[in-house]
Amino acid sequence: MDKYNIEEKKINIIGAGNISYAVISGLINSNYKKDLITVCAPSIKNRNNITKLFGIKNSSNNIYYSDQADVLILAVKPQSIVSVCQDLNKINLSKKIIISLLAGINTNILISLLKQNNINIIRIMPNIAIAVNYGIIAMYAISKNTNSINFTKNLFSKMGIIYQLDNENDIDTFTVIVGSSPAYFLFFMEEIQKKIESMGINQCNAYNIIINTINGIIHLSKLNHHNTFNKLRKLISSKKGITESAISVFKKENISSIIANAIDVSINRIKDLKNIKIF
Ligand SMILES: NC(=O)c1ccc[n+]([C@@H]2O[C@H](COP(=O)([O-])OP(=O)(O)OC[C@H]3O[C@@H](n4cnc5c(N)ncnc54)[C@H](OP(=O)(O)O)[C@@H]3O)[C@@H](O)[C@H]2O)c1
Repeated sequence: MDKYNIEEKKINIIGAGNISYAVISGLINSNYKKDLITVCAPSIKNRNNITKLFGIKNSSNNIYYSDQADVLILAVKPQSIVSVCQDLNKINLSKKIIISLLAGINTNILISLLKQNNINIIRIMPNIAIAVNYGIIAMYAISKNTNSINFTKNLFSKMGIIYQLDNENDIDTFTVIVGSSPAYFLFFMEEIQKKIESMGINQCNAYNIIINTINGIIHLSKLNHHNTFNKLRKLISSKKGITESAISVFKKENISSIIANAIDVSINRIKDLKNIKIF
């Protein structure tokens, strides 16, 4: 069997937080064999929750399963990457694929932290929807190792739509637009739910009304061939109508500049992460 067969590689995930849950869920939904996946993190609570939920093995020791794995997925906060790399430097990484999910930590930083030759690093920027195989995923590989690139592409393309980038700087844009933006939509949904509950609709109905409204809009958007949401929105908000009166409030409060400003602040936050004291 081909060494790079997607079913055959042992994957160890370092970190047992939000995105690790999503990756494990996405892998298992894609029929990746559970016994090929392991996870490690310091706190027993998160590790055990993952084991209970997905039936995969865990360890508090970053090296234990990493040593046996073919693929290491780094899923820790940027602030923890130095200590993770110190651990990983105790094993030979030359034949492993290292997939980093970290925002703001460029490949050259990882290469300098992993003080070994022939390090094979691929950056992946997913969003949380990989958990249900509806993710958007950016991928950047400095390495020209086509086997590793193809393996990683196959692995993540089962969890959503993958964009392979030629320029690592574009990962930052994807981090904000793909990684963070689900939270923007959810924030908007939260606020609408609060308001409609205050108008007397119970929590369960409010929640379902919002989900089904969004579901309907998604279906309509997929049928819309204009590649812009503006025309579709205008079908609902005719001049001097009820919806237009609400939209005019958003415009008066300059929601366009609020959104643009929020995205700029997020991009600057990534720049801050790049400046964290790593050395
Ligand atoms: N959340 C997202 O939607 C998302 C999307 C794209 C990319 N990312 C990236 O994914 C990374 C993780 O984000 P997250 O939201 O999953 O964070 P998180 O929920 O805070 O999880 C971080 C995990 O790292 C573990 N950890 C901390 N120090 C460690 C160490 N020395 N060795 C091993 N594990 C260690 C933590 O352990 P404990 O369980 O013991 O606390 C925790 O399980 C970040 O770099 C982020 O940029 C996240």
